[in-house]
Amino acid sequence: MARSVSAIAHAKVNLHLGVGPLREDGYHELVTVFQSLSLHDELTLTEVDGEGPVASLDAHGNPEVPEDDRNLAWRAVEKLSAWHRDNGGDALPAVAIDLLKGIPTAGGMAGGSADAAATLRAYNALLPVAAPEEVLWRIAAELGSDVPFTLVGETQLGTGRGENLTPMLSTGTYHWALAFAKEGLSTPAVFGKLDQMERTPHLDTAELAAALRSGDVHQVARLITNDMQAAALSLRPQLRRTIEAGERAGALRGIVSGSGPTCAFLCEDAETAAEVAGELGLYGKATTATGPARGAYVKESK
Ligand code: C5P
Repeated sequence: MARSVSAIAHAKVNLHLGVGPLREDGYHELVTVFQSLSLHDELTLTEVDGEGPVASLDAHGNPEVPEDDRNLAWRAVEKLSAWHRDNGGDALPAVAIDLLKGIPTAGGMAGGSADAAATLRAYNALLPVAAPEEVLWRIAAELGSDVPFTLVGETQLGTGRGENLTPMLSTGTYHWALAFAKEGLSTPAVFGKLDQMERTPHLDTAELAAALRSGDVHQVARLITNDMQAAALSLRPQLRRTIEAGERAGALRGIVSGSGPTCAFLCEDAETAAEVAGELGLYGKATTATGPARGAYVKESK
């Protein structure tokens, strides 16, 4: 019988996103605090007849999700199967990838990156000899700056282009309301806009680290920082109204998530988050989520 493996890909929010100078390789030096969220995608890889390593990718008609090698999940399989082959492994059956999106596409929540991370875990479970964690880690960093974080999840300090991770102590559960935009924003476009703006980078996370250790949601809300927000608001001015609406509805603090355009609202408790999401839902799609959540993991192997 054809084997199949399902894996879960969790979204992220940046509690701190400090953007330093543009490097020669085209990336910006970051100091960021990632928190993974319960919001997730689900991927299933099934062995099929046909040409591999990926025979097909089905995103169920979601027009914003590429169903070819532009999709990071597709590239994740290619890279891990190349590692398997380079290490003397036998030819493997092709896989069909089924992708159920819960995370908005181009939404600033690392949805594509998380899909790649979950695909690495799922495909690794299909290999006769699994690749060690450091191989998954290296491939993740090659695939994109946020992929290593989505592989491990929880709360992490990210430096470099975001791929160097250090676990951070965090206590308690954080309750979020999320407002999705109809149209995504391109991450390079938001970085590009930021480079044209006069600004001082925020690269110190010490106070936030202390607030997370103590689990003080009010302090965390006060300390949330996103250097990309000004650029995202400049490209999408209407997000300012979304943030105001969420804060008026009772959120402690509303921010643009990563490069946007999703807006994330930290709330005091689950009840408030549901109320805020309900209010934001009058204007567009909104939901609730909790964090921290775990990294990408295999849910089921058949
Ligand atoms: O690493 P990833 O492919 O996800 O990055 C997408 C784009 O975002 C990069 O090509 C770059 O333009 C921008 N980026 C950046 N600095 C980072 C991460 C991403 O400028 N630290």
